[in-house]
Amino acid sequence: KERSFIAIKPDGVHRGMISNIISRFEQKGYKLVGIKVIVPGMDLAKAHYAEHEGKPFFNKLTSFLTSGPVVAMVWEGKEVIKYGRTMIGATNPLASAPGTIRGDFCVDMGRNMIHGSDGPESAQREIALWFQPSEIAEYESATQSWVYE
Ligand code: GTP
Ligand code: MG
Repeated sequence: KERSFIAIKPDGVHRGMISNIISRFEQKGYKLVGIKVIVPGMDLAKAHYAEHEGKPFFNKLTSFLTSGPVVAMVWEGKEVIKYGRTMIGATNPLASAPGTIRGDFCVDMGRNMIHGSDGPESAQREIALWFQPSEIAEYESATQSWVYE
């Protein structure tokens, strides 16, 4: 079973998008196995976006992430990493298709509302960075056999 780290950034929380975003993943058939609201510290933000260290937007990006509440989540399901990114849309919201989260709600790259892991290694790394193993729930969803053949 595949897992992805999905996070609603401070702009998404402030704009009241928590339930909308959770609904989309839930309605798709994915299973929520971890969730918490935290204001991340600078160490966590920098570690999370370590791949972008040194880029011109890095300081703005990490300051923004630490500026307010983040809803950190772990979602589980078939190809949730890749399809989660499809649901999120392109990094630049103005290049995101309508129907995607960024395409429907966002305009600016620095206010693109949501993060999703971009591959199996980053998913594993990010889940371990944001969650203790005890904060991940192992359970069988009752609807599983109606979502998967
Ligand atoms: P995340 O899911 O947040 O990781 O976004 P992404 O995977 O679609 O994009 P990427 O990892 O390349 O960049 C991380 C974040 O940095 C993006 O979500 C943007 O908010 C920001 N970002 C990336 N590229 C640029 C850029 O060229 N300019 C600015 N201002 N911000 C950028
Ligand atoms: Mg990324």
